Amino acid sequence: MNPSHSVDDPGAGFGLDGKVAIVTGAASGIGRATAARLVAAGARVTGVDVKPIAPGACDHAIAADLAKPAACERVVDEVLAREGRLDILVNAAAILRRVSIAETDAALWDEVMDANLLSQFAMCRAAARPMRRRRDGRIVNVSSTAAFNGGADNSSVYAISKGGVLALTKSLARQFAADGVLVNTVCPGGIDTPMGRHGFTGPSWDAHFAAKVPLRRAGRAEEVADAILFLVSDWGSYVTGHTLDVEGGLMLR
Ligand SMILES: NC(=O)c1ccc[n+]([C@@H]2O[C@H](COP(=O)([O-])OP(=O)(O)OC[C@H]3O[C@@H](n4cnc5c(N)ncnc54)[C@H](O)[C@@H]3O)[C@@H](O)[C@H]2O)c1
Repeated sequence: MNPSHSVDDPGAGFGLDGKVAIVTGAASGIGRATAARLVAAGARVTGVDVKPIAPGACDHAIAADLAKPAACERVVDEVLAREGRLDILVNAAAILRRVSIAETDAALWDEVMDANLLSQFAMCRAAARPMRRRRDGRIVNVSSTAAFNGGADNSSVYAISKGGVLALTKSLARQFAADGVLVNTVCPGGIDTPMGRHGFTGPSWDAHFAAKVPLRRAGRAEEVADAILFLVSDWGSYVTGHTLDVEGGLMLR
């Protein structure tokens, strides 16, 4: 394992200078905020999304539908060909579909599971090859409090896919640890992004979170990005298989 992943100087930075990162879902919300944080911390970031990524949001942008495993392989190959290495993968891309259980058919199941879980598995599998070869790497998979509380009404497949992300992380963390590849989950609660607002059906966004969340507000995408930054930095060098909740204390209740 790379011994540089330990911080003896409390004034040191994140240790991301020159590190090469892929951030999925970088066109919006948490993925976009994470790409910006990693760029600011010195990493060379390739953002990936099925939607257009704003110019300047990251160093490179790749358009890909990550629900297709072949596209995941292509993304990693492209980054390796351009950068020569891969240090960090953040899997933030996902979709939310609000459909009742009665109306959930196999096509809806496949759509959500492929976009939310198969995509993370395929990205992890592709990224792990170069990381394990170099015996160094960090992977962060974004799950949701829905994995623990069943999620909002009419979003069962989303919640199920996010439960799968927790098991995916633990399984890979166990198997990759000996090769120096650390795999963790960040578990956001209610975050002010297009997806967060889309899933919301209450009377008032602010009033809803003020009443429901111990910290009395929804979270910001940047606050989730900060947790991800910790996990991929030198400061997270002894953390693997962990689920880091970023939910304002939501699950305390
Ligand atoms: N916002 C919240 O309240 C909240 C809460 C818990 C968990 N999360 C999780 O955080 C992550 C980011 O969500 P967000 O709130 O930023 O959502 P968002 O909708 O703002 O961004 C998600 C991005 O993923 C992209 N994407 C979706 N499917 C894709 C595919 N097949 N291939 C490539 N890109 C694809 C979208 O185009 C979009 O740009 C997701 O995994 C989500 O499940 C969000």
